[in-house]
Amino acid sequence: MGFLVAVTTYFLWATCLLQGAKSSGSKEPEVEPDFTEPIPNVTVSVGRDVKLACVVENLGSYRIAWIHTDRYTLLTLQNRVITRNPRFSITHNGHRTWTLYIREVEERDSGEYMCQINTSPMKSQSGFISVVGYFIQEIDGNNVMRL
Ligand SMILES: *[C@@H]1O[C@H](CO)[C@@H](O)[C@H](O)[C@H]1NC(C)=O
Repeated sequence: MGFLVAVTTYFLWATCLLQGAKSSGSKEPEVEPDFTEPIPNVTVSVGRDVKLACVVENLGSYRIAWIHTDRYTLLTLQNRVITRNPRFSITHNGHRTWTLYIREVEERDSGEYMCQINTSPMKSQSGFISVVGYFIQEIDGNNVMRL
């Protein structure tokens, strides 16, 4: 089952990659898209909402996908949510920022979240979500206090 999901996921994404390559095959030299800032690592309590932002410039005709690497799940593609899990959503704002939202996090949401651009070779950047079973208060971007 997990294997099947993995295969389907990578097939879907490979299809997009080919389409991306084709649509960028014009004669005009195109600036390659790139990430402008790292994706943060987030610690969050069970049941809270969390978001991760992927900031990309010069996206052009390329596409952005969010993947939950640990679960081999393709979550979103551009503005579309691909996973059937209704707790996931995506927004695209400021032209360059693709924000993945997870509502009411569960422990199984922990792990690596990868933002991929379908350049060839593919570019990616990851952030890690740690879901903890107790309440925390964020002190600053990197430190949390256990309550
Ligand atoms: C997030 O955590 C990973 C592995 O634990 C680390 O390699 C990476 O540098 C961290 N990213 C940030 C933005 O701190």
